[in-house]
Amino acid sequence: MSEIRKVEFIKPVLKGELVVPGDKSISHRAVMLGSIAEGKTLIKGFLDGEDCLRTIEIFTQLGVSIQRSGTVVTIDSPGMQNWIQPTGDLYAGNSGTTARLMLGILAGSKVTTVLSGDESLSNRPMDRVTIPLKEMGSKIQTDKQASLLPLKVIGTTLNAIDYIMPVASAQVKSAILFAGLNAQGTTTVTEETVSRDHTERMLTYFGAEVHSGGGRVSIAGGQTLRGMEVHVPGDISSAAFFMAAAAMLEGSSVEFKRVGLNPTRTGIIDVLREMGAQIEITNTTDENGEPSATIVVAHGNLQGITIGGELIPRLIDELPVIALLATQAMGTTIIKDAEELRVKETDRIAAVTNELKKMGADIEATPDGMIIHGPTPLTGGVLSSYGDHRLGMMAAIAALATTGAVHIEDPSCINISYPHFFEDLNKLTKNQDK
Ligand code: S3P
Repeated sequence: MSEIRKVEFIKPVLKGELVVPGDKSISHRAVMLGSIAEGKTLIKGFLDGEDCLRTIEIFTQLGVSIQRSGTVVTIDSPGMQNWIQPTGDLYAGNSGTTARLMLGILAGSKVTTVLSGDESLSNRPMDRVTIPLKEMGSKIQTDKQASLLPLKVIGTTLNAIDYIMPVASAQVKSAILFAGLNAQGTTTVTEETVSRDHTERMLTYFGAEVHSGGGRVSIAGGQTLRGMEVHVPGDISSAAFFMAAAAMLEGSSVEFKRVGLNPTRTGIIDVLREMGAQIEITNTTDENGEPSATIVVAHGNLQGITIGGELIPRLIDELPVIALLATQAMGTTIIKDAEELRVKETDRIAAVTNELKKMGADIEATPDGMIIHGPTPLTGGVLSSYGDHRLGMMAAIAALATTGAVHIEDPSCINISYPHFFEDLNKLTKNQDK
C-alpha cells in the first residue's frame, strides 16, 4: 500500500521567516549551462529536489564532472563538444523541464542518446518540442506513433529557424534556444504571450549574445560559453503555497527571504494583492541577472477575481493553490485560458476540482480552467496527490483550512520540488501538526 500522511491543525496561524528552496527552473538551467560551457561552474542555493537531481545525473552520464554537497554544486565540464557517449538511457524521471530542454540540447550534440521518463512524463506531449527541432534538421526517433518518451536523439548539425510558438511554454522556447546555440545561422523564437525568461537571462550571463524584446528572442549559433558562479534565488512557486496560506489565515504574517522576483514569474503576487492579501516587498537585489527580494505576506479579507490571458504563464504552477485560496474568498473566482494545466504532471484541472470537491468546495472544471464560488467551509478526508508535487502541497495547505484531518496519499512526490516542505509547514505553524 502506498504511503499516507496525516496533516491536522486546530485554529492555525502562520508566523515567522522562511527561506524557501532554490528555484527549480533556474537550478535546472544552471546545471545545463554549466555542463554546456567549458570549465568550472559553481552553483549556490541549488534545489536538491528529485527533478533537478535527474538533470545532474544525466550530465554525469555524459562525462561532465559534477559534485554536490547539499545545495552547493560544482561542475567541471570539458564543454559539450567533448561529452562522452553514455551507456544507458538518460532518465528524466518526472521532470518535464529536464526532458524538453535536454531534447533541444542533445539534438545538436555529438552523442546519440535515449531519453526516457516515468509513467507521467511518458504520457506528456513532446511533439511541441520535436516538431520545431525536426524543422531544424534534428534526428529524433520514437517507436510510438506520437512523439512520446522514450525518444532516441542522434546528435547532428542543425539549421537555424524562425519559429512562432503555438503555446506559451518556456520549456519549448528554451529547447529551441539551446538547439539554436548549436545551429548554423540565427534562430528566432516569437511568443504571443511571454513565458518565463530564465534561459535568455542565463545564456547572457554565461557569455552568449542573445537579443530579446517585443516577444522575440534571437540567438546566433556557434557561440562558446564560459563557466560561471550562479546564486539561485528561492522559488516563488514553492513560496506560493505558504503565501496563499498566510493570505488565507487570520492573524498570519510570513516573511520570505531572497525569493526570486523575475517579472515573468510574479503573477502570484499580483493575484494575492488583487484578492486582498497584504504584501510588502523590500531588499530587492539582482544576482546573475535574476532579481530577488524579501516579501512579507499577511492575511487580508479575500475576494474572488478573474484570472486569465497574459497572467496565466506568469503563475501557471501556482494555479492549484490559487484554486484552494479561492474556496476561502468571498464571491466567484474564474480561472480561464489555462488549458496547459491539463498536460502538467497530471491533469491539474481535473485533479484540483476532484480533490477540492471532496472537501466540500463549490468548484466546477471548465475546458480551460475552473470556476470557484466561495467562501465554503472545508472538511478533512483522504486526498490524492496523483503523484504530482503541487497537488500534494495543495492538499497539505488545505489542511490548514479544514475541520478534521487531511490524509494525503503518496505525499513523497513533494520531494520533487520542496524536500523540506513539511518541516517548513510545521515551523510556521509552531508545530501544531498532530
Ligand atoms: C518550466 C516551465 C513551465 C512550468 C514548469 C517549469 C521551466 O512549463 O510549468 O514547472 O522551467 O521552463 P511550460 O513551459 O510547459 O509552460
